[in-house]
Amino acid sequence: MREYDPNRDRERVEEVERICEVGPSGKLCIFTDLLGDPICRVRHSPSFLMLVAEIGDEIVGMIRGCIKTITCGNSNRHLPVYAKVAYILGLRVSPSHRRMGIGLKLVHRMEAWFRDNGAEYSYMATENDNLASVKLFTDKCGYTKFRTPSILVNPVFAHRLTLSPKVKIIHLTPSQAETIYRRRFATTEFFPRDIDAVLNNKLSIGTFLAVPDSATWQGTDHFLSDPPKSWAILSIWNSKELFTLQVRGASRVKRTLAKTTRVVDKALPFLRLPSFPDFFRPFGFHFMYGIGGEGPEAVKMVKSLCDFAHNVAKERDCGAVVTEVSGQEPLRFGIPHWKMLSCPEDLWCIKRLGEDYSDGSVGDWTKSPPRISIFVDPREV
Ligand SMILES: CC(C)(COP(=O)(O)OP(=O)(O)OC[C@H]1O[C@@H](n2cnc3c(N)ncnc32)[C@H](O)[C@@H]1OP(=O)(O)O)[C@@H](O)C(=O)NCCC(=O)NCCS
Repeated sequence: MREYDPNRDRERVEEVERICEVGPSGKLCIFTDLLGDPICRVRHSPSFLMLVAEIGDEIVGMIRGCIKTITCGNSNRHLPVYAKVAYILGLRVSPSHRRMGIGLKLVHRMEAWFRDNGAEYSYMATENDNLASVKLFTDKCGYTKFRTPSILVNPVFAHRLTLSPKVKIIHLTPSQAETIYRRRFATTEFFPRDIDAVLNNKLSIGTFLAVPDSATWQGTDHFLSDPPKSWAILSIWNSKELFTLQVRGASRVKRTLAKTTRVVDKALPFLRLPSFPDFFRPFGFHFMYGIGGEGPEAVKMVKSLCDFAHNVAKERDCGAVVTEVSGQEPLRFGIPHWKMLSCPEDLWCIKRLGEDYSDGSVGDWTKSPPRISIFVDPREV
C-alpha cells in the first residue's frame, strides 16, 4: 500500500476503475469517466489522500479520503460545534483480488492517516444494497449506519423551463452567499467551516436567492435583519468539469425510445415534452447544494430556483441536475426529480475515530438522531 503517484499509476488506476464498473450482465450500469484525473473527487477538499494497493507491478485496489472541519449534529441551536471529520470514497478492489483482505487493509491504512491528522470521525456513503461495502464497513471496521439522505436527479430537457413571474432570482456574490450561509446554516449537520473555499472555488457556478417579485434587494445585512416573508437559496456546482457518467447496458428499444422523445422535444420545444437526455453517451451534471429557505412559500421558491438551475444546466450542455438532501427535508417537495433516476436512501455510515477525545460539549455524534436538514458538500460528490 502506498500513496498514489499520478505519473506512475494513472493509467493502471483507470484500468481498475473500468473493470470495477462492470455491472451484472444484462443490467444497466453507470460508467464513470474521471477524465484522466483519478484524484479529482477529493482534490478540492482542504486535505486529501489517495492510496493504491499493489502486488508486483499490478495495481489491485485504491481508496480516496479527505478531511475537513464541519458542523456535527450535537451543535446547539444557535452556535455550531465543529469537528474534524474524514470522508472515505472511491474504494475499489479489482474483481480478481476480492475477498483477500485488500479492501480492509486499504480502509485501515486510510484511517491511520485520518488519525495522524486529528480527525475525530470518519464516514462513508454507499448504496444500501451494496452488501460487500456495507458489510466491510459495519462488520469489520466498526462503522454504524448513520444517515440516509436522498439523491434526487432531474434530467435536463431540450426545452427551457418557464420561470414563475412571481419570483425574483438574485445572483449573490460569493461573499454575500457566505454571509447568509454562515448566519443561517452554520448549525446544519455537515456544514463545512470553510464554506468560503467552496463558494470561491472555480467549480462553483453561483449562489442564487429567490424572493417574492415585490421584494427589493438592499444587501445582505438588510436581508438578514428583515427577510421577506418567504425566500429560498441554492448554489450550483459544476461537477461536469470533474467527471462524466454514462449509462451502459440499455437495450436498443430503450435507447431508441429515449432518442425519440429528445428529437421531438428539440423540434417542438413549445410542447414542453419531458424528454430523456442521451444518457447512453458520456454526460456531465450540475450539483445543487446549500438548499434552504423559510416561509410559507419557501417550497415554491425552491421550485423556481431548481427550474432556474435546470436552464443554467441546459445552457452548459449538462445531462442532469442532481442534489442530495436529508430524508426529512421539508423543502424536498420543491425539488423536481425523476424517481427512476433518483436514489431515495443513500446510506451514510460513521465511526468515531478518537475514543480518547474528551466529549466536551459535542458528545458522541455517531449516536445523535438525524436532523431535519443536512449540508452536502459538493466537493465530495
Ligand atoms: C467492497 C470491496 C472494496 C471489498 O473489497 P475486498 O478486498 O473484496 O474486501 P475484503 O477482502 O477486505 O473483505 C473484508 C470483509 O468485507 C466483507 N465483504 C467483502 N466482500 C463481500 C461480499 N461480496 N459479500 C459479503 N461480504 C463481503 C466481509 O465481511 C469481508 O470479510 P471476510 O472475507 O472475512 O468475510 C470490493 O467488493 C469492491 O471493489 N466492490 C466494488 C466497488 C465498491 O462497491 N466499492 C465500495 C464503495 S464505498
